[in-house]
Amino acid sequence: MFNLYKRGTLREHFAVIGTSRNKMTDEEFQDAVRKSLGTAKSDKDAEKFISHFAYEAHDVTDKAHYKVLKDRADELDKKFKLEGNRIFYLSLSPNFFGTVAGFLKTEGLTDSQGFNRLVIEKPFGRDYDSAAQLNDALSTAFNEDQVFRIDHYLGKEMIQNIEALRFGNTIVESLWNNRYIDNIQVTLSEKLGVEERASYYDNSGALRDMVQNHIMQIVSLLAMEQPVAFTDVDIRAEKVKALRSLRVYNVADASTNFVRGQYGAGNKQRAYRDEDNVPHDSNNETFVAGKLLFDNYRWSGTPFYIRTGKELADKFTRVDVVFKKPLVDIFAFPQNANAPLEANVLTMFIEPKAGFSLRLNAKTSGQGFQTAPINMDYFVDAAGEKATPEPYERLIHDVMKGDGTNFSSWPEVSYAWKFVDQIRKVWDLQQPAFPNYTPGSMGPAAADELIQRDHREWVYRLNQ
Ligand code: BG6
Repeated sequence: MFNLYKRGTLREHFAVIGTSRNKMTDEEFQDAVRKSLGTAKSDKDAEKFISHFAYEAHDVTDKAHYKVLKDRADELDKKFKLEGNRIFYLSLSPNFFGTVAGFLKTEGLTDSQGFNRLVIEKPFGRDYDSAAQLNDALSTAFNEDQVFRIDHYLGKEMIQNIEALRFGNTIVESLWNNRYIDNIQVTLSEKLGVEERASYYDNSGALRDMVQNHIMQIVSLLAMEQPVAFTDVDIRAEKVKALRSLRVYNVADASTNFVRGQYGAGNKQRAYRDEDNVPHDSNNETFVAGKLLFDNYRWSGTPFYIRTGKELADKFTRVDVVFKKPLVDIFAFPQNANAPLEANVLTMFIEPKAGFSLRLNAKTSGQGFQTAPINMDYFVDAAGEKATPEPYERLIHDVMKGDGTNFSSWPEVSYAWKFVDQIRKVWDLQQPAFPNYTPGSMGPAAADELIQRDHREWVYRLNQ
């Protein structure tokens, strides 16, 4: 928010009321805000910015107390001339989303004359049924176009670049289908373990924590048809259509096409089961790899392989689009030690470095005729990195503008749950052989076997 303030997107007409059960004065809360600014707290604008923050201790189940919040909001509304525009930002246990949304409405907090928007942090349910219940509860107080479900991956520069790359380039979009693409690989690799979040993570696991939301969102941007226009309504419509043609697995296919893992001890890292607040017999997965199939004209026969996990070799996110090899390799001279042509690969580096790389085959310099892969690269430079907002900075700005493009709509969330629920159901019936991978690796051997079975390889491999 301070970045937005500094950029001038947010200036005088805003106020924030922080709430939680803890008692705190405005000054104490402002002090917490000051601390969160880090070195920026000495910026000349910092104190002015901090003066927009207020605090009310609040028990979300205490209906009567919403009146206090309302009065405070009305007072700040007048003071900062907010024209009744309100954003309610819920970062709390999903059990309370419905309660809060309901009371915001019945106790009159949404009666102001301006806009009323609700921002929801994940997790949005534990499965389709609980997510649907949650959604029903929210929809008694807010319309779908007022609800902004945060998926911070959608706020990342290079995820948004998927659309630019696909729909801004004839050479990309004309080849973007099963005739030319052999497979697509999405890797969200994390070097850290569960840290201090075990109480959440052990009840969630990588499938719910990363696949149902972030990975499904990335996959739907990669798989969707061209939207009619670059608007939230049109983009969401195409993402939903793509997710509707994602094959929901039966029991047998779910067991074959998905693998899970949990890290053991190694490389100076303790095992997941020995982490603080993790039960010693936990069967929670810290790694998932899988194959996704779309039953539509564009993608039939071209699998999307995905993987994510904690305590892997490195922290990075990338998408590798592997094209089909030329049908005939005319350079494979028998008398020549020529290496066979390699597949063209378009890699989108999402993080930490941001850019694209296209692997092509070219003639090596010199006598004879040898081919070798070369890369055409583009990486965002330092000035570009500096201009890149943090995902949350971008998304909060989008909420203020009322732009839902980079938020997950309910139909997207519901199809993602329906897909993921099938995998979960199968896993819940089977006893996993955990732990099955070493910290610092790229997950269990089964993740490699999953793709090798299809005579393919992960483009990103360790020690290649
Ligand atoms: C969060 C997950 O949504 O994303 C975390 O709950 C995960 O478990 C994080 O570590 C990864 O986000 P990023 O932006 O660091 O890749």
